[in-house]
Amino acid sequence: MGKTIIISNRLPVSIQKKEDGLSYTPSAGGLATGLGSIYKSGDNVWLGWPGLYVTNENEKEEITSNLKNENMAPVFLTKEEIEKFYEGFSNTTLWPLFHYFPSYTSFDEGYWETYKFVNQIFCEETLKYAHNDDIIWIHDYQLLLLPNMIREKLPNASIGFFQHIPFPSFEIFRNLPWRKELLEGMLGSDLIGFHTYDDVRHFLSSVNRLVGLDNKMGELRVEERICMVDSFPMGIDYSKFDMAARSENTIKEIASYGEFLGNTKTIVSIDRLDYSKGIPDRLLAFDLFLENYPDYKGQVTLLMIVVPSRDQVDLYKQLKVEIDELVGRINGKHGKIDWTPIRYFYRSFPFTSLSAMYRLSDIALVTPLRDGMNLVCKEFIASKIDQTGVLILSEMAGAAKELSDALIINPNNLPEMADAIYKALIMPEEEQIRRMDELQSVVKRYDIHNWVQLFMRSLDVVKEKQYEMSVK
Ligand code: G6P
Repeated sequence: MGKTIIISNRLPVSIQKKEDGLSYTPSAGGLATGLGSIYKSGDNVWLGWPGLYVTNENEKEEITSNLKNENMAPVFLTKEEIEKFYEGFSNTTLWPLFHYFPSYTSFDEGYWETYKFVNQIFCEETLKYAHNDDIIWIHDYQLLLLPNMIREKLPNASIGFFQHIPFPSFEIFRNLPWRKELLEGMLGSDLIGFHTYDDVRHFLSSVNRLVGLDNKMGELRVEERICMVDSFPMGIDYSKFDMAARSENTIKEIASYGEFLGNTKTIVSIDRLDYSKGIPDRLLAFDLFLENYPDYKGQVTLLMIVVPSRDQVDLYKQLKVEIDELVGRINGKHGKIDWTPIRYFYRSFPFTSLSAMYRLSDIALVTPLRDGMNLVCKEFIASKIDQTGVLILSEMAGAAKELSDALIINPNNLPEMADAIYKALIMPEEEQIRRMDELQSVVKRYDIHNWVQLFMRSLDVVKEKQYEMSVK
């Protein structure tokens, strides 16, 4: 039995340069938690970019040796590689196109060349650790070519790939000049996972039209190999959020907010700054709600957290300006001396504060224009320990497939969103509890640990089938 290697663009740690040296903050994200028990044991390892640009060789050595103690291995990238591979092909080509923003997508040959080159660097780094009997689990759109690059070197390795963002319909995907190469890269895997069945369908349809392979119940034959494609809706660490919401720290944190939020109903909204999240539309819907239901002025506060992200990419810079202006305009239009309609924060918050915000909020407004899954809505659900509260959720989030007891809206329909806020505010407590109970049972059952187990087990099953086929 070999070891397990996890590969993602980002390592589950954030490293920052401070005046007195480098600081390491472990990531609190769902993936890091879910895979924690795997990569931290034995000689397993997690490979990825440390998230910062390092030139100094001593610093590289220091990072490598510190991460080694935590079973992590850094893949260092040059400034140009970060610009063309990460900001370029990953976040100006694949990200917008896969989220159904073809007009935001740039098709740049230089970005593509660097994307191939960086996937090759990841491959070489992986080969320093990997053998034919290892399990290799690759994550997300930054590394679509990696499965087949590794397959060519290690034909018998167990290679799993999971895509955390949507896979678009063929009509969108076909726009990519490098569409066939990308699919062939992914097809080096034994198992390919997506969040939803729709993503699976879209992927299989593109494989059929561009590579000419038919599937049987998600199973493809790639030369002599089986490649299975299936959906694995990702969950959260439910008990972590549930326990945090019940903790003394969270209760103290809520008390420390004093009367600021206590006097009004609170709607929580938390996202990375990203145009796929539909933040301006959400703000406009809140504006419309205040216009259509003026009695609620002074009675409801939108608590909006926007976490800085990809701030070197132009579209993200522009979006930041747009959001700042909209918040200012809406607060200026409706605000009163003793009431600010939108409390807006452009920064990240510690876990206890998030737990407090989820727990105290009456409504969560999660309205992405497109989202692979969206875990914020699941975190809100797990934090509502008294089972009151209402989730308003976009039908464009993968999570909407599982969370049918939310108020499901179309994020492009502003009047519908404004009405959903009103419906949530007047929803009888009994109905809130009934819906929340259903939502909690889904999110609790399919948590992150269950997700990791299911994926790993399916990868095992494909390998067994492959083995049986080869001995026949
Ligand atoms: C999404 C992607 C991840 C990515 C994360 C943060 O969740 O699916 O692959 O790591 O956003 O984005 P960043 O560009 O900061 O890594």
